[in-house]
Amino acid sequence: MGKLVSLSIFSTLLTISFLSLNNSIYLLPLLVYFLYRIFKPSNALLPPTPFAFPIFGNWLQVGNDLNHRLLASMAQTYGSIFLLKLGSKNLVVVSDPELATQVLHTQGVEFGSRPRNVVFDIFTGNGQDMVFTVYGDHWRKMRRIMTLPFFTNKVVHNYSNMWEEEMDLVVHDLRKEERVRTKGIVVRKRLQLMLYNIMYRMMFDAKFESQEDPLFIDATRFNSERSRLAQSFEYNYGDFIPLLRPFLRGYLNKCKDLQQRRLAFFNNYFVEKRREIMAANGKNHKISCAIDHIIDAQMKGEISEENVLYIVENINVAAIETTLWSMEWAIAELVNHPEVQHKIRREISTVLKGNPITESNLHELPYLQATVKETLRLHTPIPLLVPHMNLEEAKLGGFTIPRESKVVVNAWWLANNPKWWKNPEEFRPERFMEEESNTDAVAGGKVDFRYLPFGMGRRSCPGIILALPILGLVIAKLVTDFEMKAPPEVEEIDVSEKGGQFSLHIANHSTVVFEPVIKA
Ligand code: HEM
Repeated sequence: MGKLVSLSIFSTLLTISFLSLNNSIYLLPLLVYFLYRIFKPSNALLPPTPFAFPIFGNWLQVGNDLNHRLLASMAQTYGSIFLLKLGSKNLVVVSDPELATQVLHTQGVEFGSRPRNVVFDIFTGNGQDMVFTVYGDHWRKMRRIMTLPFFTNKVVHNYSNMWEEEMDLVVHDLRKEERVRTKGIVVRKRLQLMLYNIMYRMMFDAKFESQEDPLFIDATRFNSERSRLAQSFEYNYGDFIPLLRPFLRGYLNKCKDLQQRRLAFFNNYFVEKRREIMAANGKNHKISCAIDHIIDAQMKGEISEENVLYIVENINVAAIETTLWSMEWAIAELVNHPEVQHKIRREISTVLKGNPITESNLHELPYLQATVKETLRLHTPIPLLVPHMNLEEAKLGGFTIPRESKVVVNAWWLANNPKWWKNPEEFRPERFMEEESNTDAVAGGKVDFRYLPFGMGRRSCPGIILALPILGLVIAKLVTDFEMKAPPEVEEIDVSEKGGQFSLHIANHSTVVFEPVIKA
């Protein structure tokens, strides 16, 4: 592509120079420069790549849907590192634990940025957020400011009672209705309300009344529309081929309009309320929830008002749906594997001897934890992690990675490649207590780079500290209270998947029968 552009500029210059011979003396150095650019021998050894067509690169061959399975099958042809040209953009795909270690850990600084395109520029205010900003001072500051109110053991300790309260309400609602134990329900909607309430109580000390609460309806609509527009393949042509960008104007206006209304919604209904409460108490304002901390940092001049809103936006995007997809996967697999439900139930009754399950005793329940791990292994919710990027040209696996390449680690394939896992297609939590018991997330001080559902290193998921106990508690509570079953006349729950390039979710939200367990 670079050579093509240079060639066309070169031919234009040639024409001009013939037209105005008098001026050619001035154009000569430019001509020499372009000739050099076009014909200079390249000693950059790029990763293996399929034949790339001019302008389109590999886009027409590989299509739009570059999901984890397609990229895993390409890795078998092109190797554990390969490069795809998508129009003017480079996509580097890494499918091997050693190289993943390089990208995420050893060369974590070089590959620690995130690529953004025209659409993500809109949804992040050109990187005023934390998740999609480049690696540097702004990211460091945002990550530091977010850590204290969201990602510490103290936060887990302070909020775990509230999480349990919200989970007990789910159990209560499921027990209430006859049809839930006979015909079953699509449990996703109720769990979605629970997760919104968990996150909004942590962020704003606010909660939604019910699934019909107009604010809940607005919040879920705004967030799902944001995901739809950001993750659509519809705008690829303008993203990959800059010449076509003007045709994206309508699409980009739609994104801008949504983003404006969405940020105004977060601001007017939630952030402003906290500002008012804080202002009423003047200098003695008390810090009661996460956004109070963030506003406090803004008042001290550390970040801007926009940064505050983008932190709210990031939590809405990163925290809620990821955890919800994982819950849906876990429940579907538990329905299809009643023996796993029985084992968890037995473990809880043997270990806790009738005492309630709380966050503080989850560590005593290894089989429950293995079930969470196995769910995230088989159904990695963000199978290619959030893309990484190198700001400058870099080396990886002996190859040259051109600057500003989008680098993805196929975390799903690392965790599902039969070369490294015994019968990886099986849902079998026991693997983490048997053949994998010595290669837990950390083995002998070394990180196991085959298992990375939360990434690893500088840009890894800070939310792991919340997500794992929330998942463990929900599963434990549902399994102790209910026998989860497929609806009558359905043999097995459908666990077909959807997505893969950005996120991996269950294709059809499961209908599940919750039959109350009769406790002795
Ligand atoms: C099961 C649930 C979750 C999964 C599977 C998950 C997974 C991930 C992954 C794969 C990344 C990117 C790692 C990388 O690029 O190397 C990430 C980043 C991130 N996650 Fe999560 N996540 C989950 C829950 C959460 C929660 C609950 C929160 C917040 C409360 C959260 C906040 C974030 C943030 C802020 C980042 C960006 C980090 C950065 O760029 O520095 N996540 N997550």
